[in-house]
Amino acid sequence: MKKLEGKVAIVTGASGGIGRAITKELTEEGCTVIGFNYVPSNEGIEYVLDITNRQAVEEAVKDVIGKYGRIDILINNAGITKDNLVYRMSYEDWDAVINTNLTGAFNMVKACIREIVKNEGVIINVSSVVGLEGNIGQVNYSASKAGLVGLTKSLAKEFGRKNVRVNAIAPGFIETPMTEKLPEEIKKAALEKISMRRFGKPEEVAKLVRFLVTDGTYINGQVIVIDGGMEM
Ligand code: NAI
Repeated sequence: MKKLEGKVAIVTGASGGIGRAITKELTEEGCTVIGFNYVPSNEGIEYVLDITNRQAVEEAVKDVIGKYGRIDILINNAGITKDNLVYRMSYEDWDAVINTNLTGAFNMVKACIREIVKNEGVIINVSSVVGLEGNIGQVNYSASKAGLVGLTKSLAKEFGRKNVRVNAIAPGFIETPMTEKLPEEIKKAALEKISMRRFGKPEEVAKLVRFLVTDGTYINGQVIVIDGGMEM
């Protein structure tokens, strides 16, 4: 018996590296997975929208409930980077990253929470080790990812008694389009800080998400680091 048979999940940014892998893992468990994608993947079930657009989020969530009957699982995975040193970081780049990574996740929670409470569901927020440790050139990104940790812990406290679990994962360097664009010298320096001397694969992150959704039934309000043993 598959563990998520009859369940419905929304994964934001499902057309990206980690989102696509999460979609595959949850689908293998029998879950109906719906992507909320900014960039269309033309795979599986997807809605094309910008998660910073609250009206679009609310309408798409309503449509999902109408068509698929329920929502049990929300994976807030969509994220962007706009790296720069503070001197050079524009206000626009600060706003864009906070709006997508943090406020976008909140928009999704607001739209889905009643359904998730009704179904005693699960929320996973994709944070980052950078949200826990900080990083040069990433004040916007690290603040957004640290914000997701606060969102996670507060939601876990607010809804634990309703049997809803809310956790965050904090990946290190994972091989995806997001890290592909990093300059070679940054990648090389990063590798030296990872005890396993390699970047992670999206599938490895997705397996953690699958565990948290299915078997991690007494894990709540936690941030699980998945970074191959990295010293920042
Ligand atoms: P990616 O760039 O392949 O995927 C990000 C996805 O988010 C894309 O599908 C993109 O279209 C979507 N997205 C961006 N803005 C959106 C919006 N406004 N509305 C809807 N969707 C939007 O990157 P990756 O690596 O798969 O990242 C997934 C998550 O993992 C992100 O939150 C990222 O910050 C996080 N992460 C990634 C790490 C890595 O090393 N790749 C490390 C730690 C965290």
